[in-house]
Amino acid sequence: MAAVLAPDAPGTLSFELSDEHKLIRQMARDFAQSELLPGVIERDRDEKFPEELVRRMGELGLLGMMVDPQYGGGGMDTVSYVLAMEELSKIDASASVIVSVNNSLVCWGLEKFGTEAQKRKYLPALTSGEYVGAFCLSEPEAGSDATSQRTTAEDRGDHYLLNGTKNWITNGGRAGISLVMAQTDAAKKHKGINCLIVERGTPGFAIGKKEEKLGIRGSDTHSLMFSDVKVPKANRIGEDGFGFRFAMSVLDGGRIGIAAQALGIASGAYELALKYAKERKAFGTEIANHQAIQFKLADMATQIEAARLLVLKAAREKDLGKPFGQSAAMAKLYASKVAMAVTAEAIQVHGGYGYVKEFHVERLYRDAKITEIYEGTSEIQRLVIARHLLGA
Ligand code: CAA
Repeated sequence: MAAVLAPDAPGTLSFELSDEHKLIRQMARDFAQSELLPGVIERDRDEKFPEELVRRMGELGLLGMMVDPQYGGGGMDTVSYVLAMEELSKIDASASVIVSVNNSLVCWGLEKFGTEAQKRKYLPALTSGEYVGAFCLSEPEAGSDATSQRTTAEDRGDHYLLNGTKNWITNGGRAGISLVMAQTDAAKKHKGINCLIVERGTPGFAIGKKEEKLGIRGSDTHSLMFSDVKVPKANRIGEDGFGFRFAMSVLDGGRIGIAAQALGIASGAYELALKYAKERKAFGTEIANHQAIQFKLADMATQIEAARLLVLKAAREKDLGKPFGQSAAMAKLYASKVAMAVTAEAIQVHGGYGYVKEFHVERLYRDAKITEIYEGTSEIQRLVIARHLLGA
């Protein structure tokens, strides 16, 4: 199903989604309700990666939404992607981060900057759900300060020799391929960094411990270790020294995905709170009839609407080929803040029930926090926005 909007005619501003966009949103909503919702509490409790559901998401085209159909993708636009991300994240943010990393960091990065051979070799498996991909930038001592890469990729003629450790890698233990940023020429600082495609099972590549997390517990987060891993030169993305700019460009798009995830976590919690408020009675009437609750719902809905507009604006700018880094950072900064505020209020509306697992909002509250951290903390988003504002 293709869903690519033609550019707006000059001077027009439309808040309407196309019929195709609505269909994609409905498909994601139906899938989330019928297949992600059953078992989501148990997967969170047991830290269980949704293996079967990943395959199913591949079948439904959710893993390579924006990839050209010639490589097995859905040929959709970023607006379609964020609509789907919101729906999946309302129910299961662990599943949606798998979707986000695979779509916007790995598939998009490979398709935009990879060679034809790399695209043909890896994209069909990534889009079908045969395997997922991982994006490896963070290190024990390089989180926000991402240029300080200690992992090295020594140039050995026809291959690189990769050594180092990557931290907090989403999909780390499951990934068929990992995009690994590593320093080839330290004298050139960030201009000496390369991005290498490393296949699972390559000798010297070890998967470290799985992290026990506050939220998104059904996702798979590991440290990865590389010890004299031989990576062919053919697996480098872009020209020599392009790795850091690759990571930054890809993260601009990734931040739209995480903003949509935060939006979904917020709107999922809000929908649960609204429903509960109409059912739960106190002082002789449904609590939705109390102004104390009405004001909460009004604030939640307003914040969510504002976040949604920012997310859609960033996605639309990307689809139109306009610069979108500032909008992506604004969308992520704001939507993640809204996710924190709205999930806390959703628990408050639920009272004691909100504090127990059965009612889902406590999970959404725990899941919300990571959206202020990964793919650039809120502080980094402010830095990116400020640099745009100042033209720096
Ligand atoms: N697009 C393309 N290139 C960019 C860019 C962008 N958005 N932003 C910066 N660059 C380029 C710059 O042009 C510069 O290149 P040149 O020298 O060739 O011009 C180079 O990158 C270095 O940029 P800066 O001088 O701005 O570098 P800096 O160190 O001052 O700051 C930063 C960069 C914005 C702080 C960056 O380090 C950053 O974004 N840090 C956060 C890292 C991050 O988001 N990590 C997330 C981990 S991935 C993850 O979470 C995935 C997951 O599992 C869910």
